[in-house]
Amino acid sequence: MKDFDVLNLTEEVIRAYTAQATTPRLREIFASLIRHLHGFAKDVQLTEAEWFAAIQFLTATGKKCDDKRQEFILLSDTLGLSMLVDAINHPKGGAGTESTVLGPFYVPGAPDMPYGGDVRRRHLAQAVPCLVTGKVTDETGKPLAGATLDIWQTAANALYDVQDAQAPEWNLRGRFKTRDDGSYALVTEKPVSYPVPTDGTVGRMLAAAGRHAFRPAHLHFMVSAPGCEPLTTHIFVNGDEYLDSDAVFATKAKLVGEFKTCTDADEARRFGVTAPYARLEFDFGLMRR
Ligand code: BEZ
Ligand code: FE
Repeated sequence: MKDFDVLNLTEEVIRAYTAQATTPRLREIFASLIRHLHGFAKDVQLTEAEWFAAIQFLTATGKKCDDKRQEFILLSDTLGLSMLVDAINHPKGGAGTESTVLGPFYVPGAPDMPYGGDVRRRHLAQAVPCLVTGKVTDETGKPLAGATLDIWQTAANALYDVQDAQAPEWNLRGRFKTRDDGSYALVTEKPVSYPVPTDGTVGRMLAAAGRHAFRPAHLHFMVSAPGCEPLTTHIFVNGDEYLDSDAVFATKAKLVGEFKTCTDADEARRFGVTAPYARLEFDFGLMRR
């Protein structure tokens, strides 16, 4: 029998989890996880009361999860872990549009929409109409015909449809295809900034840290095309007051778009919007596999 203490326990736990681990990757992950977890407890000299408070926090986080709410993803997002995983897997500086977090509000299966289709299935008085156009190309600039753009966003009341019992199903969501020249067009509302949900453990954590819960206004895009790596990203609204303090650390300068105020009556008529409207032009570059 061995006698364990602060000095020898960590190495013994690592040995127990790695000696017969079933794959080399699992061995690497166990060793690093245990080293950092134990290192954290030693670093802050974790008390028993703090350890138990952490167990209660994680238990409450799990209880907040259901098929519509994922408090663990929100916890990962607000701790910057989701963005770190994104940055590790999609390093900046390459060709193609930069990625950012998926977030918890994506719903697969949004309706297919035609070129220029309108995703506003309800009209709130405070909503600003918005026309979004651009192209999808590969990293060399070659247009990608038949690429899919799956988009979603909050309404002018700062809620996603899945958070709002009054919202029609699929409000501000849709799947668009590019034309032969790679172009796309869609009609929506100008996005607004909104708080991440604060009625769970993440809200308590943000309050304890003195952090606000807001995300800068953005439009979510998932862009895909045969033979290319899919892209999950947002386009942020330039000038938003939260661009420098996103609750989930997901902003990137190249993803900030100009939502210009536009009064072109001809264009407004063609796309069925009322002037003045917001106008975003944004091109996406996908990486060939
Ligand atoms: C979002 O943009 O939808 C989002 C991302 C991370 C946490 C909460 C919301
Ligand atoms: Fe969002």
